[in-house]
Amino acid sequence: MKILVTGGAGFIGSHLCDLLISRGEEVSVIDDLSTGSLENIAHLNSHPHFQYSVDTILNADLMDRLISECDCIVHLAAAVGVKYVLENPLSSIETNILGTETALKLANKYRKKILVASTSEVYGKHMHAPLKEDDNLIYGPPSTMRWSYAASKLVDEFTAIAYHRTKKLNTVIIRCFNTIGPRQTGMYGMVVPRFIQQALRDDPITVFGDGKQTRTFTYIEDVVQAIYRLIKCEKGAGEVVNIGGTEEISIADLAQKIRDLAGSSSEIVFIPYDKAYGKDFEDMMRRVPSVEKLKSLIDFVPDTPLDDILRRTIEYFRAKAS
Ligand SMILES: NC(=O)c1ccc[n+]([C@@H]2O[C@H](COP(=O)([O-])OP(=O)(O)OC[C@H]3O[C@@H](n4cnc5c(N)ncnc54)[C@H](O)[C@@H]3O)[C@@H](O)[C@H]2O)c1
Repeated sequence: MKILVTGGAGFIGSHLCDLLISRGEEVSVIDDLSTGSLENIAHLNSHPHFQYSVDTILNADLMDRLISECDCIVHLAAAVGVKYVLENPLSSIETNILGTETALKLANKYRKKILVASTSEVYGKHMHAPLKEDDNLIYGPPSTMRWSYAASKLVDEFTAIAYHRTKKLNTVIIRCFNTIGPRQTGMYGMVVPRFIQQALRDDPITVFGDGKQTRTFTYIEDVVQAIYRLIKCEKGAGEVVNIGGTEEISIADLAQKIRDLAGSSSEIVFIPYDKAYGKDFEDMMRRVPSVEKLKSLIDFVPDTPLDDILRRTIEYFRAKAS
């Protein structure tokens, strides 16, 4: 099977390429390297089943050729990360809405199955857990740009569902929760790589807000395993599926845990949201997925314990720094 991975030089994309190649699949990547890196896929370059194009998913002619040549698309390319989206509000919306529209239109033209990456951000300001795929979604106003990421991904979801309902296209929407592991960069506001790099330097670990907001964290290997099974799964067309871990932790406790596991002497400091992200920033206070649907579709749920994930990720950053 030949699989086109958009955003394949990114964090999730490059790990997915590794898994696909290890399973004997052919892989084609398109990535504009805006947040990804050729270093993430350098080890695959000479593999006979691997090819990549450095270009944007907004290049419809190239996307037409790449999609015509593949059997299935995993559409991961997007403007990602709260910090990145706040700093690049317009291009983020263009990439996330127009880029996905291009991918879906061409998937339909050539009748190819497409998995579209969405995010737990689409749930918005819920306080209950676990979050189920058919829950209502609660957002703040458009003047609070943070919600543009969620809203743009929600438009992607509506578009994918509309293609399924009107054209019978095989679309599967994957709502990924915070995914962590080696190769994730802390440059665009991702909390775990940022905390680990601060801890390894014995710099202050900077918690935004009061640290009482909670999250679950999913190991990258579990996420790509779930995506691979969804590629192969014959069920799930037109569905939204959560992919996430279920071990909930507050961000203040996460900072403490990372400091302890890294053997660091960093102090933990709390920075008000407006100092970190500017005024009008709102956070999501809780985000825990229901994984019932995922289990029913692929008989697999992410279950790597948080301590193990953090240990492996700390080792990665320690080796990278030395
Ligand atoms: N990592 C997470 O915790 C998480 C959580 C929820 C959803 N997601 C979703 O998973 C997907 C992958 O995220 P990631 O964490 O690997 O981030 P990432 O930034 O590492 O990967 C995104 C990739 O897309 C590429 N890209 C961006 N705009 C592009 C364009 N116009 N043309 C071509 N390539 C482009 C980037 O260069 C990058 O390599 C995204 O769609 C994201 O919204 C990730």
